[in-house]
Amino acid sequence: MTEPEETLISVDPDSQRRLREKGLDYRIADMAVDADAEGFLRADSRGFLDEDPTDAELAQMRETMRARRNIGVYDPAAGSWPIATVNSWVTPLSLPGGEVDMWAISSVTVAGTHRRRGIARNLLEGELRAAAGAGVAVAGLTASEATIYGRYGFGSAVPVMRFTVDTARAGWRGSDAPSTGRLVYADKQTLATDLEQLHEASRARRSGQVAGWRGRWQRMAGLAEGDKEAAAVRGVRFTDADGAVQGAMAYTLAELPGVFRSELRIRSIITTSDEALREIWRFVVQHDLVTRARVDLRPVDDPLPWLVSDQRAVTAEVHDHGWLRVLDVDAALTARTYSAPLDIVLRVDDPLGFAAGDWRVTVDERGRCRITATSDSPEVTLGVVELSAIYAGGVPAAQLAAAGRIHGDADAVSALSRAFLTTPSPVLGIWY
Ligand SMILES: CC(C)(COP(=O)(O)OP(=O)(O)OC[C@H]1O[C@@H](n2cnc3c(N)ncnc32)[C@H](O)[C@@H]1OP(=O)(O)O)[C@@H](O)C(=O)NCCC(=O)NCCS
Repeated sequence: MTEPEETLISVDPDSQRRLREKGLDYRIADMAVDADAEGFLRADSRGFLDEDPTDAELAQMRETMRARRNIGVYDPAAGSWPIATVNSWVTPLSLPGGEVDMWAISSVTVAGTHRRRGIARNLLEGELRAAAGAGVAVAGLTASEATIYGRYGFGSAVPVMRFTVDTARAGWRGSDAPSTGRLVYADKQTLATDLEQLHEASRARRSGQVAGWRGRWQRMAGLAEGDKEAAAVRGVRFTDADGAVQGAMAYTLAELPGVFRSELRIRSIITTSDEALREIWRFVVQHDLVTRARVDLRPVDDPLPWLVSDQRAVTAEVHDHGWLRVLDVDAALTARTYSAPLDIVLRVDDPLGFAAGDWRVTVDERGRCRITATSDSPEVTLGVVELSAIYAGGVPAAQLAAAGRIHGDADAVSALSRAFLTTPSPVLGIWY
């Protein structure tokens, strides 16, 4: 396997120096070296409060991490495992009308024995400087807690929907006409391949998505080592009249105590056509012996509430999921198209400096954008957190203005809001 370019980028010298002053060694953990790989992966699992991985799990995790730039922080007084971990890789982020390279950040952990000494701050700032140095315009992550990453300039940009469906009550309101395609069960290997291919085929259709990787789909399909629910994983796939796969769902069924009924827990639904999604939802809502279904990471405009007779049987919770951080205003904003013309001067505040400045944003009739640094007076002022939040088109600028987080003339804010919002709603269907 060839080393991806980003794994070769050396570690950030500022973070290295600051951590060295604390007696810590901040360096690449090389997945080709057994001791580095094992220490990094065991520390990563410990950091996320997981059980210590088995050898088979370690081998599978190592395959995934080989494609990433892994960094460990080592304390000579604390054994051979790193006391903090982080990794990153460059992946396409889908945007309205295009995509941009994104610096994905994951495996952020600091050992419980070393918490609150500024180690995470050095990890995160080191990643942002490395990304900017490599010319990557945007960084992204998914977060275990919503309170951690705003301080580094990340905004909650891709909200998603969690549904809980009372299937006994919902009733099917969608069409009863026979489908032109077929829904059939799929074995786990087929399921993993379907999910992978469908994600690749569909991710450009909505802003906010990133590329997946083999290990992600194996986990969804119940093929990951150490998955305690692996035996319970089932899959269905939808094929059209020509036999082309247009949708797949991975799920488990868990028996509810004492009632002879089960809960259907959806791990993933990925579709490339409306019909495939409707047929999968029909399968869920009408499933015999099931009284409840749960799913997360759905787009906020998922049609489910309009496919059932009783909308109150569908509990929908919107929550933060995809977090983005603009590093290069020009490269980031010109990588997408916009929903309405715009001519506005934005002042962007960024305590870390990357995106700070006064920028004239001009969007033409075709939705294409031009950015120029300007000395004209700003009409709208916002922080990099807020710019990053509205960037993918899933969060209205007007909502942030109402919260007192974007300031400016009401007409200018509303023009900004109209231009940045996008349809269909952005989504991010995986954790990374
Ligand atoms: C979250 C975690 C990485 C923080 O590491 P840390 O080294 O203790 O953090 P730092 O000392 O660098 O603190 C940096 C800042 O984040 C804040 N912070 C740290 N952990 C936080 C948390 N869990 N929630 C909210 N704020 C947090 C600190 O108060 C500090 O704020 P300040 O800079 O404004 O003073 C660590 O607690 C951890 O490993 N948790 C378990 C794994 C996890 O949740 N990782 C995140 C994956 S998305």
